[in-house]
Amino acid sequence: MEQRHQPIGVFDSGLGGISVLAEAMSLLPAEDFIYYGDNGNAPYGDKHPDQVLELSRAVVDDLLKRNCKAVLIACNTATSAAAASLRAELTVPVIGMEPALKPAALMPGQGAVLVLATRMTLRLPKFSGLMELYGQDAQPIPCPGLVELVEQGELEGEQVEEMLRGFLAPYLDRPVKAIVLGCTHYVFLRKAIRQVVGDGVALVDGNLGTAMQLLRKLREGGLEKLDTGIQGKVAFLTSAPDRKAALDQMAAMLALARTSAVA
Ligand code: DGL
Repeated sequence: MEQRHQPIGVFDSGLGGISVLAEAMSLLPAEDFIYYGDNGNAPYGDKHPDQVLELSRAVVDDLLKRNCKAVLIACNTATSAAAASLRAELTVPVIGMEPALKPAALMPGQGAVLVLATRMTLRLPKFSGLMELYGQDAQPIPCPGLVELVEQGELEGEQVEEMLRGFLAPYLDRPVKAIVLGCTHYVFLRKAIRQVVGDGVALVDGNLGTAMQLLRKLREGGLEKLDTGIQGKVAFLTSAPDRKAALDQMAAMLALARTSAVA
């Protein structure tokens, strides 16, 4: 098969990366995607970086066996722990993510930029580098527990808002310009975050920027599938013990993300 016609592999620790997949599908409608949710091993953010590197290697190995022409790490945590090693080891393009601190910091207006992400993302050098460049008004906030709620399908309601209030309330007594959704799972919590912080704060994620980077890398490598007007296919894989339930949930999350109900 001509390389341009091979699928793009996308992975995350679970459901969060489906928000990135939705963005990539909108930007690259002709492409075929294989999405691997490592739900059986979520959350990544509370593990050791070496363990996340090993898990990421195993997922990518599976995606490459299925003939993927590029790998999109739809996970800030796995990017921080594994992207550099994977790029050194592989010949296919590896596209990663980072919390969208840069666009949030450069937005007009006054006030703090709150960066919500996993403990691991905030601890590793990639984020320290971002903080040095754009962190003047930034306040990193690790959010243990939020990924688990999203994995359980809890996207709205009292339990989610209660947890969000616990993380955010201490910072809401001063002006806040933007909140960075520095974990792809949190993109599915936009509505709940709005309930807690109101309408005056921008919620910024890195999904569109990441999809655009994927497009650039495909073009650079001569790997972009030509758009013939036929919608590409999506296949889901999961490491969850209850495979059927996980695959159904993944399809439902993609439908939600595609209708912008989470925006
Ligand atoms: N969706 C992953 C991220 O963007 C997260 C997380 C996890 O499994 O802890 O960081």
